[in-house]
Amino acid sequence: MSLFRYKVLLLVLFFLRSIPSIALVKPPEFDDSKKYISAHAGGVIKFKGHYFLYGENRSDHEQGVSIYQSSNISNWKYKGLALDINDVNKFGKGDYFVERPKIIYNKKYDDFVMWFHVEEKNQGYKAALVGVARSKNILGPYSLVSISRINKLFRPINGNLVGERKANLINRRDFASGQMSRDIGVFIDDDDKGYLISTTEDNATIAISQMGDDYTSLTGKYIRVQPGRYEEAPVMFKIQGKYYLITSGTTGWKPNGATLYESNKVFGAWKRLGSPIISKDPHDIKTTFHSQGSNVFKYNGILIFMADNWNTNNLAKSRYIWKLVQLDSSGKPRIYE
Ligand code: GAL
Repeated sequence: MSLFRYKVLLLVLFFLRSIPSIALVKPPEFDDSKKYISAHAGGVIKFKGHYFLYGENRSDHEQGVSIYQSSNISNWKYKGLALDINDVNKFGKGDYFVERPKIIYNKKYDDFVMWFHVEEKNQGYKAALVGVARSKNILGPYSLVSISRINKLFRPINGNLVGERKANLINRRDFASGQMSRDIGVFIDDDDKGYLISTTEDNATIAISQMGDDYTSLTGKYIRVQPGRYEEAPVMFKIQGKYYLITSGTTGWKPNGATLYESNKVFGAWKRLGSPIISKDPHDIKTTFHSQGSNVFKYNGILIFMADNWNTNNLAKSRYIWKLVQLDSSGKPRIYE
């Protein structure tokens, strides 16, 4: 075979290899028993060759965090509740619901840690608590470690309180009782340091807080990002040494436009880059493809942005949007149509 033909063959083989994996990137819909997948505002974690999809279980008969398993991110098998709301209620002695669970693997302790937003029913999201639970088994059951506010008695490390007045006042107000934490995301850096990203200060600000080495607590080291911009649903990831954050606006279950931030360090200066969405349809940009982000995960070298297409009339019927994250010509990550 000539060198030219050999190169063409290699190219064809490369495309044959990559096309099926891209084609497989479709959001989950039904599990292997034809039931709607109920795993909202969660994530996907890979462990020992298997993928685990988890999220808010919003079906009538179960509540808490559900988990599904797959070897190919197309066929999902329901593995039950990883976290049962009854256990959260028992632990916190209250009547709670949980949102936006995130599971991370701790290499050092060889166990799994779940972080989630905790609210008291019918209290209008005033509690703004974060829950932590831990399990030796990825599928759970996860045992409760704590339910609390964040960064109690700690000041942010990024200097004095600069930014919007109202947000600053709330930060000061909550210094002694602990800062609010509503929508959350998690991020594990290459040096295995863990971070919790929270919508805080009555949704005015995003806080990035460092976790301790077992990922079940916070060290008190945190920064405030963009005080007063009112953003939530934080999704953090790293590409080629740069850190990125995608947030949504704060319009409840109604979709809005996402914002992309970039920084050279987790505790660095986060720069606002505008919308990450690339689409011919301006409506996609205004509504983030009619969805709100929840996580980013890697599948066969491809980065996938997971988002929730909330059904405001019936949240249990909400569906999912999965889109590819790719670098544009200037090297910035974009979410493509
Ligand atoms: C959304 C948030 C959801 C949920 C909802 C309640 O903006 O991202 O997780 O808290 O508000 O209105």
